Amino acid sequence: MTQTPTQAMTPAAPRPCSPSPSPSPIVELDAAHVWHPYTQHGIAPTAVPIARAEGAVLYDLAGRPIIDAISSWWVTLHGHAHPAIAAAIADQARRLEQVIFAGFTHEPAAALAAELVRHLPAGLTRIFYSDNGSTAVEVALKAALQYWRNRGQPRTRIAALDHAYHGDTFGAMSASAASIFTEPFAELLFDVVRLPAPGSAEDDAALLAALDRLLTTDGDPLAAVIVEPRLQGAGGMRVWRAETLRAVRDRTAAYDVLLIADEVLTGFGRTGPTFACQGESPATAIAPDIMCLSKGLTGGFLPMGVTAVREELFEAFRSSDRRQTFFHGHSFTANPLACAAARASLALLDDDCAARRTAIESAHRAQMRCWSTHPWVRDPRVLGTVAAFDLVAPAAEAGGYLHPIGRQLADFAFDAGVLIRPLGDVVYVLPPYCITSDQLGQVYAVVTAFLERLEREGPVVAR
Ligand SMILES: Cc1ncc(COP(=O)(O)O)c(C=O)c1O
Repeated sequence: MTQTPTQAMTPAAPRPCSPSPSPSPIVELDAAHVWHPYTQHGIAPTAVPIARAEGAVLYDLAGRPIIDAISSWWVTLHGHAHPAIAAAIADQARRLEQVIFAGFTHEPAAALAAELVRHLPAGLTRIFYSDNGSTAVEVALKAALQYWRNRGQPRTRIAALDHAYHGDTFGAMSASAASIFTEPFAELLFDVVRLPAPGSAEDDAALLAALDRLLTTDGDPLAAVIVEPRLQGAGGMRVWRAETLRAVRDRTAAYDVLLIADEVLTGFGRTGPTFACQGESPATAIAPDIMCLSKGLTGGFLPMGVTAVREELFEAFRSSDRRQTFFHGHSFTANPLACAAARASLALLDDDCAARRTAIESAHRAQMRCWSTHPWVRDPRVLGTVAAFDLVAPAAEAGGYLHPIGRQLADFAFDAGVLIRPLGDVVYVLPPYCITSDQLGQVYAVVTAFLERLEREGPVVAR
């Protein structure tokens, strides 16, 4: 496929698509035996079987193309089935597919750690491998808490932001804002000090004032503050200022509180620079004490998490006392295939990739200028390769993530050959970096067509 950097464009008309033939044996087997994530099986349509994918496009069993405008849950960086990453995995699989990582190591893990350290903000020198974004966060929280214990100054308080999302395991859910995702487990989650979410100038002032109070007067010292730098993803694609992140870093450093940057979504160029912590200029760049990575880490090919920490933190665990060990690990820690994929993906994050990301951002900005005047569009925002707005949704029986208008757009887009998955009434486009200007134009055109339909007919009745 053509992989020219995306240009600002006039949206093309959505491509008409013929429906896929069904049912297929895959659908039947799936319906009989599989339990899907984030899926209400009582009302969801049957899952769509995907036969193959290339670049920014998924193909169903009938060969119908579907443009993946959300990078398959924010993981695909350089494109589906990228030949260089596929070859690296195949090559590694023929040599070493897996080995226990306690007491053993291997070239892909050691080399990847060194390469990551070269890319990461200064001071993050130790890499702990795990399996996904949630485990990267669990490791960060556990390492932060045990760090204080090992130093003989136990601290147990964690602060996190309103609207935060850090994953679905228990520690990650505790750090995440209360939501429909965490509600069934609310009584079992550990207490976290909740800080106001950043956003507008007033929001940022409220956050910093609350943080100041917490650091100077309120109760026991904090062990750590955890944030999603510059972009709160699942909490609504909420963009926040680099200056405010810098102010949070300065305050936590001044009071010797660890700062955990959850870059599971924002890492590897998603917001522009390689890591969102790098800010917009050296003046706003920060170095956290702990950083969590996953999603784009392997280019979206294989599950893997990384928790990168400062050397002092690692040193607090190095001891002749076995009780000071970090007793955490997963069967597939540092899986060689995932490490090989991550190294191949990192190698693709070159200047050409930066140019593609810049082109996507320019296209998003040009399109957002058109959408921003639409009566159904509120709070348009662009950060790097992520474009988002809120739909001025009519009152429904359930708001937020459950608002039906998002599913209506998803269905409308799918029928036109585009995969979008709004977070309730929050619409976003977050494409793989290889998306062409024509494909991005089709994505924009589908969203525009939906907005026009809303203006003409209003939302369809909630289901
Ligand atoms: C910021 C952030 N942290 C953590 C996670 C959890 O990652 P995973 O789904 O791989 O467990 C996500 C997932 O969306 C995320 O956006």
